[in-house]
Amino acid sequence: MLSGKRVLVGITGGIAAYKICELIRMFKRQNADVRVVVTPNALNFVTKLTLQCLSQNDVYCEAFNVPEWKPEHIALTESDIFIIAPCSANTIGKLANGLADNLLTSTAMAFKNPILIAPAMNDGMWENKILQDNLERLKKAGYEIIEPETGFLACGSQGKGRLADLNKIFDKVVLFLNTSPIDREVCSQFEMNEKIRKQNEGCYCEKINNKKILVTAGGTKEKIDPVRYITNNSSGKMGLAIADYLYSKGADVTLVSTFEIERPYKVTVAKSADEMFKTVKTIDFDAVFMTAAVGDFKVKNVSEQKIKKTDGNGLNLELEQNPDILRYLAENKKTGQTIVGFCAESENLIENAKEKIKKKGCDYLVANDISRKDIGFDSNENEVYILDRELNIKKFDKASKTLIAKGIVDYIWQN
Ligand SMILES: Cc1cc2nc3c(=O)[nH]c(=O)nc-3n(C[C@H](O)[C@H](O)[C@H](O)COP(=O)(O)O)c2cc1C
Repeated sequence: MLSGKRVLVGITGGIAAYKICELIRMFKRQNADVRVVVTPNALNFVTKLTLQCLSQNDVYCEAFNVPEWKPEHIALTESDIFIIAPCSANTIGKLANGLADNLLTSTAMAFKNPILIAPAMNDGMWENKILQDNLERLKKAGYEIIEPETGFLACGSQGKGRLADLNKIFDKVVLFLNTSPIDREVCSQFEMNEKIRKQNEGCYCEKINNKKILVTAGGTKEKIDPVRYITNNSSGKMGLAIADYLYSKGADVTLVSTFEIERPYKVTVAKSADEMFKTVKTIDFDAVFMTAAVGDFKVKNVSEQKIKKTDGNGLNLELEQNPDILRYLAENKKTGQTIVGFCAESENLIENAKEKIKKKGCDYLVANDISRKDIGFDSNENEVYILDRELNIKKFDKASKTLIAKGIVDYIWQN
């Protein structure tokens, strides 16, 4: 998930520093290139050796240790994101006032990509008016603050100040790495609107919260023999974006994916159409997004042994139809369920989509134009139309799959 991404982790002198060892492992598990910069005080809480082993990189601390022509606070800025966790009240104060008196604060000052900070401290420190003013100042300067949680604190008291859950910090970093500033602006606008709506009534989030939502993703693989298979160009990114967005809105998400992936929600791998059909039938859901590109055909007689080149003088494969999962779900729809299908068309997109929604009987159909190279299959962007049973059509202009996912989900639940 994070291959090729350079994550700079900053650690300051707070008791929650020990938790960051696990956060580094979470990034490493996703193949990120992790570098760690610490304040001298952080080393009272966690050792350089531990951080070196976990990040598989040097750990940076000394500001005036300049082995090469480029000082380290400049070299470290060549990272895609800077996450400072835990961020002490002291370092927050320095950052908010433009102080750069150690390697971590100097790096932050020179850093051009997103900086996220996860404060953690005693509740008294958290409530301190100067600290809160400093945080406001950092927010205005574009820092993303991952708020601490309320609970039992290391100092023995109860209150707000616990480092945010590591999964939350991890998800935020991933979100920032995978979205553009424009995407995030739209999302934060949405979050704001959402808060306002929640204060009023009829927030659609309540319609999703704790709802069991099934999402399928990826292109199915149909075996030819033990090593070969028939598949398609679907990357699974659209389904994943939908599942992630639903999860962020509080849904109880189950992802049935054709590939292995780690997510904070339930994931079941089903590679072929038959496996997916079998799996989907066992899952109870309030809504389903059939985003997976399910192959229409499978090989009739799958060879138990690898087919030899010599056997295959002009090899013919006999194909038979796969089950139509979307149609099955629509035909067996229970009261209150919402069925959302996806179709990929290379010509006459709207006409074909209209035919398909009538034929399949689903509530909504999302139509993708796969004739274009810049969107759809295997791309990070998409442009889709969504049709409902009355054949109303809504277009979502070209945007990242994250934003398209948000558009589709919002549209369905706000209607
Ligand atoms: C045992 C102990 C635990 C501490 N825990 C925290 C903490 O959780 N959050 C915090 O802001 N400061 C905490 N402090 C105070 C900071 O270590 C102190 O303000 C220090 O100057 C921070 O330095 P730094 O920001 O350069 O890392 C703690 C101090 C001690 C002695």
